[in-house]
Amino acid sequence: MAHNTTTEEPEKLDLRSHHIAEDKLAELLRLFPEIRTEGGKIDFDKLKLVLGETVDVGRERYGMNWPGKADCFKTIQQPSLGTLLPRREESVNFDTTDNLIIEGDNLEVLKLLQKSYLGKVKMIYIDPPYNTGNDFIYPDNYSESLQTYLEYTGQVDDEGRKFSTNSDTDGRFHSKWLNMMYPRLYLARNLLSEDGAIFVSVDDHEVNNLRKLMDEVFGEEAFVSQICVVNNLKGRNDRKHVATAHEYLMFYAMPLFESNGLPLSQKQLAEYKQRTDDGAQFQWRDLRKRGGADTRTARPKLFFPLYANPRTGRVRLKMDEVYSVEIYPRKSDGSDGCWRWGYTKVSQGVDELRASKVDGKDRWNVSYRVYLEQEGEERTSKPKSTWIGPEFSTDAGTKSLATLISNIVSFTPKPVGLVRQIASLVMSEGDLCLDFFAGSGTTAQALLEASIEDGMARHFILVQLPEKIDGGPLASIAEITKERCRRVIARIDSSRSQQLAFGPAPEIDLGFRVFVLSESGLLPWRANTPNRDSVALAQQLELHTDHVRSDRTPEQLLYELLLKSGFPLTDPIETLNLGGKEVFSISDGAMLICLDRDLTHELIKAMGDLHPQRVVCLDEGFAGNDQLKTNAVQTMKARGVTSFRTV
Ligand SMILES: C[S@@+](CC[C@H](N)C(=O)[O-])C[C@H]1O[C@@H](n2cnc3c(N)ncnc32)[C@H](O)[C@@H]1O
Repeated sequence: MAHNTTTEEPEKLDLRSHHIAEDKLAELLRLFPEIRTEGGKIDFDKLKLVLGETVDVGRERYGMNWPGKADCFKTIQQPSLGTLLPRREESVNFDTTDNLIIEGDNLEVLKLLQKSYLGKVKMIYIDPPYNTGNDFIYPDNYSESLQTYLEYTGQVDDEGRKFSTNSDTDGRFHSKWLNMMYPRLYLARNLLSEDGAIFVSVDDHEVNNLRKLMDEVFGEEAFVSQICVVNNLKGRNDRKHVATAHEYLMFYAMPLFESNGLPLSQKQLAEYKQRTDDGAQFQWRDLRKRGGADTRTARPKLFFPLYANPRTGRVRLKMDEVYSVEIYPRKSDGSDGCWRWGYTKVSQGVDELRASKVDGKDRWNVSYRVYLEQEGEERTSKPKSTWIGPEFSTDAGTKSLATLISNIVSFTPKPVGLVRQIASLVMSEGDLCLDFFAGSGTTAQALLEASIEDGMARHFILVQLPEKIDGGPLASIAEITKERCRRVIARIDSSRSQQLAFGPAPEIDLGFRVFVLSESGLLPWRANTPNRDSVALAQQLELHTDHVRSDRTPEQLLYELLLKSGFPLTDPIETLNLGGKEVFSISDGAMLICLDRDLTHELIKAMGDLHPQRVVCLDEGFAGNDQLKTNAVQTMKARGVTSFRTV
C-alpha cells in the first residue's frame, strides 16, 4: 500500500531567550501601522511626519553618552545561548519553595528570565560594584557573552582572556562601569511590574552617572528619591577634606507604584494615647494649618469662625447661647491664619473637633481627632530622604554575616535592616523581589526574617556570579550566598521548633531552589555558538543529528523547556503516566512536556485528551515516522491544543 508522503509538521519551539528588539518593533508597528515598509521594517521619515512637531531632529541632543553605549544595545539584543540547570542537592525544600538562587553572570540570567518573569517582579534591590578602583567589573562581550562566562568559571579552555579589576588608571574607567550597568538595568526594567520599584545602592564614585543612567532607562518621571543612607556615623577617613558618613539609595518607581509607608515607631505609636468610647485609639491635632500656605491671604476660604461650648469644648458652625465662644484660626503673633479643613468638611465632622483654652491666655484652639486605624488599616509614616540608625550601619551588615559565617574577610555586606526597610515600603503578600548582585545574600536573609516575623510571604530571586574569593571557608561568593541562606533557614527552623510549644507556627516558604547558568542542552540552540575552528564546526554538525545533549538529565531539559516556553521556574510540575510513558504536566496541565524518545499514537492521544494549551515533544521521539507526526498534529488540533511544538 502506498503511503501518503505529505506530512504536517509540528512547529519548532522557539528556543531563543526573549527577543527584546522584536517586541518593541511589534509594539511600534501596532501603534503606527502606516510606518510599516515592505518586509515589516520601519519608515522613519514617515514616523517623523506622523509625530510632527514632537520629533527632535537637531544635531545636538540632550542625554548621556559614553564610549561603548552603542554596543550596549547589541549586548541587550543578543539572545542568550544558555540555560539554568537545577541543583537539588544544594537547595533547601526544592519542591515546595518559590525562592530562587541562581549562580551565574547576571546579564545572561536576566536574558533567560525575560520570558518567564516579564512584569512579575515587585521590587528590585541591587548593590552593584561601586567602581572604587578595586572592584572586578565583569567583562561583557556582546557576541560571545556565555562563552566569556564559561571561560570565567573555568568550564572551557581559557584563551588568555584577562579578568581583572577596573582600575582608576584605565582610560575607560567610568565607561566600563556604565557598559556593565546599562544592559542589566534595561533588562531588569522589563521584569518590574507596573506597580513595582527599584532601589540601587551607590556611593560618590558613580552616583551622578547612575542617576543619569536610571533617568534614561526608567524615565525621569520615575525618579522618587536619592536617599542618603548614613552607614558610618563617625565618618570614614577616606577623603582629603571630608570624612564620608553616608552613601546613597537611588529609588525609582513604575507608574502604578503605591508605597506601603513605614510602620509607626514606638514613639509615634505612643502619641495615640486617647481612646473613644468604642476603644479606638487617636490623638488630638491642631486644626489650624501650619507650614506652607497657612495664611488667610493664601487660603481665604479656609478662614471662617467656629463656635465652642466653653463647658464641654464641643464645637459648632453657628453661634448660640451655648456655643458662645467665637474662634478664628489665628497665628501665635495674632495674624490671620487658616484651618486645615474647609467649611463642608467641618460641617460633616464637627463631632470630631474639640476646643480648648490655651493655658494662661484668653485664646482658644481647635483640635481634630487623628485615628491610629484608618479604614481598618493602621496608620503609616512616610520615609525621610535621610536614613539614619544603627540598623543601617556597615557594622550591622558585617556583624549579621559574621554571626552566620565567620572568617569572610574583604567583603562588606549590606545591613539586613536596609533591605527590610525597602521591602516594608514596597512588598505585600506573595510579592517577588529580585537582587541580581546578591553578594552574601543579605536580601534573602531580610525577606526570610521579615516573612517569619509577620507571617506575610515574600519571595526572592537572587543572582550571583561564582566570583572567587581568597581565604575563608568557601571558594566563591556564590557559595557564601547559598550557605548563608541555609544557615538563616536552619536558625529560623530551630527557633521555631523551640516556640512550637506555644502554638502552631505560620506556614512560611523557608527554602530556595538553586539553579546554575550553563550551556543550552538543546543543540539547535547551541548551533548559534560562534565556531572558532573547523574541528568544532564539524563536531557540531555531527552532534546535530541528535538535538539534545546526551549528558542532560530529563529534569535539566524539563527546566530549560519551562524557561524557554515562558513558565516561571517555580510553577508546579506533576509527573503523569500516559500510555505507559512519563509526561510532565506544568502549571496544572497548562503545558505537557514529553521527553520520551519513542512516541506512540496512544501517548499522543492521551496527551491531547487532557486538553492542555501547549504540548512539547522531542523531534527525535517520532523517529522519522512522518505518519505519526501528521497524526499527532491533527490529534492536537482536534483537541484544541493551541501550540504543539517539538525541539
Ligand atoms: C557589592 S556586592 C553585593 C553585596 C550584597 N548586597 C551583600 O549584602 O552581600 C556586589 C556583588 O555583585 C557580584 N557581581 C558582580 N558582577 C556580577 C555579574 N556580572 N553577575 C552576577 N553577580 C555579579 C559580585 O560578585 C559581588 O558579590
